[in-house]
Amino acid sequence: MRIWLVASEAVPFAKTGGLADVAGTLPKWLRRSGHEVAVVMPRYYIVDRQKYNLKKLALALGVPMGIMGELWCGVYEGRLPASDVPVYFIEHEGFYGRASLYNDEKGQGFLDNDNRFIFLSRAALQLAKAVGFQPDIVHANDWHTGAVPLFLNTHYAVDPFFSATASVFTIHNMQYQGNFYEGVVDVLGVGWHHYHVHDLMHDNQVNLLKAGLVHATVLNTVSKGYAREIMMPAYGYGLDGVIRERFRDFFGIVNGIDLEEWNPAADPAIAAPFDINDLSGKLLCKRDLQAVVGLPQRDVPLIGIVSRLVEQKGMDVLAAALYRLLELDIQIALLGTGDPWLQTFFEQVSLQRGNRFQAKIGYSEELAHKIEAGADFFLMPSRFEPCGLNQLYSLRYGTLPIVRATGGLDDTVINYDEKTGVGTGFKFHDLTVDALCNTVGWAVYTWYNHPDVITRLRQQAMSCDYSWERSAAKYGQLYRYARAKKRKKNI
Ligand code: ADP
Ligand code: GLC
Repeated sequence: MRIWLVASEAVPFAKTGGLADVAGTLPKWLRRSGHEVAVVMPRYYIVDRQKYNLKKLALALGVPMGIMGELWCGVYEGRLPASDVPVYFIEHEGFYGRASLYNDEKGQGFLDNDNRFIFLSRAALQLAKAVGFQPDIVHANDWHTGAVPLFLNTHYAVDPFFSATASVFTIHNMQYQGNFYEGVVDVLGVGWHHYHVHDLMHDNQVNLLKAGLVHATVLNTVSKGYAREIMMPAYGYGLDGVIRERFRDFFGIVNGIDLEEWNPAADPAIAAPFDINDLSGKLLCKRDLQAVVGLPQRDVPLIGIVSRLVEQKGMDVLAAALYRLLELDIQIALLGTGDPWLQTFFEQVSLQRGNRFQAKIGYSEELAHKIEAGADFFLMPSRFEPCGLNQLYSLRYGTLPIVRATGGLDDTVINYDEKTGVGTGFKFHDLTVDALCNTVGWAVYTWYNHPDVITRLRQQAMSCDYSWERSAAKYGQLYRYARAKKRKKNI
């Protein structure tokens, strides 16, 4: 099949979170299983044209933006590394020539994010036509590209070029919905009859996530657990009813990880290689991590955290629990950026309790690898987690995840069963300081008193298979289902 994947970020070009990992890795695996795939994303300022050897296409692309008229953009072409998958970058200085992807320096979303991502959505479809890539599937991701399925059902509904094109819309996060004032209807240019509670409207605003949910041929999210959760009000952020209405066309496919990028046996960022048969290198990685973050090189359980510092990740609960956790003889190494109050709080605790807690505020791929490799445990107390990639990296590095049992975390981590010895990590259910502290306490107790159990759990964790191969095959099935559904509808 021919797949045209549109996303607001993709590794290695631009990344703020797991969406980039998926958008930059899944296409390579689709390609390996025989599909023809291309990726479309913005050419943000940080996408380095020289480094990635991007070539400017000899075309100027016209993008109709409703009441704003037709805007024009350039297009660069590159490749996903180690593949022949083309990546098309939409070049528009006014929209994407900025220091960051979504937010200004105060962390507020850019005021024109509506226009920036409606533009991406429309440009992606115009570009498919301009380069003659007639897709079986247009695969859109998250609110930024929610207008893509809408456009296919409106502006392009009778366009012969897209007559056999089905849309797949993947939800990576229900919380971010792209809510904008109603005037956005005129920028979409689809007509005001779409401004309706069964269509784009939600809470008297235009909701671009909802546009994707309502209009896509089929929907999926990134784990089965999260698929169940977002059909309920507690996790649906107001759109659970929309998902329930579409449950027949709604699926859960867990993400994979890039096994070449995240491989403890050949990771250039870590101090020593190790694998399931020989874990001795892991201790060297731990000593290296302690030195790098400034923790004493002692033999105590070391807990790693790499996270956006936001409430989704339960970082507020961690903050509330932190002093109590630090009464245990443990160390915690945290890497992340996010809400200013959390950054400040964690930095302050580092100053006071630096022998047990070190927070590095910032973004560092290298330190993320060192933490995955050097820590004994990896903590993810998420309030909700559509899939989560860090626990998958942790499993591969034998770093036992301590997680709240939600969404993808619940699906991918097996709670240690003391009777059978089976498990790959430690889980808690209630998002409370008590539950968090008790479960960390359980893991730490096991580390001190049953080192043999920890070794066994590490081996079980490292033998889990979260490669993309399996998940890419499931996407293949999803695409076939979408294509069949589209054909039936056309008849
Ligand atoms: P989310 O997309 O919700 O943030 P995921 O677990 O799916 O959560 O993906 C997060 C990705 O971003 C992982 O690849 C993780 O290593 C990376 N990441 C997050 N924060 C940082 C950071 N401060 N430095 C380096 N990598 C980070
Ligand atoms: C989102 C989710 C995360 C998921 C990622 C990739 O950012 O928060 O759980 O792993 O998307 O699908």
